[in-house]
Amino acid sequence: MNSPELLPILCYPDPRLHTVAKPVAEVDDDIRALIPRMLATMYDANGIGLAATQVDVHLRLIVIDVSETRDQPMVLINPELEWASDEKRKGEEGCLSVPGIYDGVERSIAVRVRALDGEGHSRVIEAEGMLAVCIQHEMDHLLGKVFVEYLSMLKRNRIKSKLVKARREAERA
Ligand code: NI
Repeated sequence: MNSPELLPILCYPDPRLHTVAKPVAEVDDDIRALIPRMLATMYDANGIGLAATQVDVHLRLIVIDVSETRDQPMVLINPELEWASDEKRKGEEGCLSVPGIYDGVERSIAVRVRALDGEGHSRVIEAEGMLAVCIQHEMDHLLGKVFVEYLSMLKRNRIKSKLVKARREAERA
């Protein structure tokens, strides 16, 4: 069996990362074909989550795998936050769209989310720890929000110029 073709990941500050995703109308063949490609792209990049927004597909679809063994893929289609704990904690985050940058973001320590799985069945996911953080981070992507937007304007501008410079150098090389 051929491995799924990888998808290019948009890099901050690409304006397409700020697109608000539309709900998936139906888990059809196109969606079923996209899921393995998103998972392969996430695993290839050593990420724990990837939102469709990051591969320039503006639909409410997320793939996640926070397992150490990298064999527990989760698919969340049209995720809706049902509950988030008032208790929050600041933890270090990174993002495949913001390569090499890690910084602290405050998130609820537990969430409950309703979503369709890859077969289109409705599921409720109760998450805490890294999974809870990852779900919140990826759901932000679907709203066009990148984690660096939680940081100060000064930090964000530094990150922007660093990534723009790195891209220019990569293009010249
Ligand atoms: Ni991200």
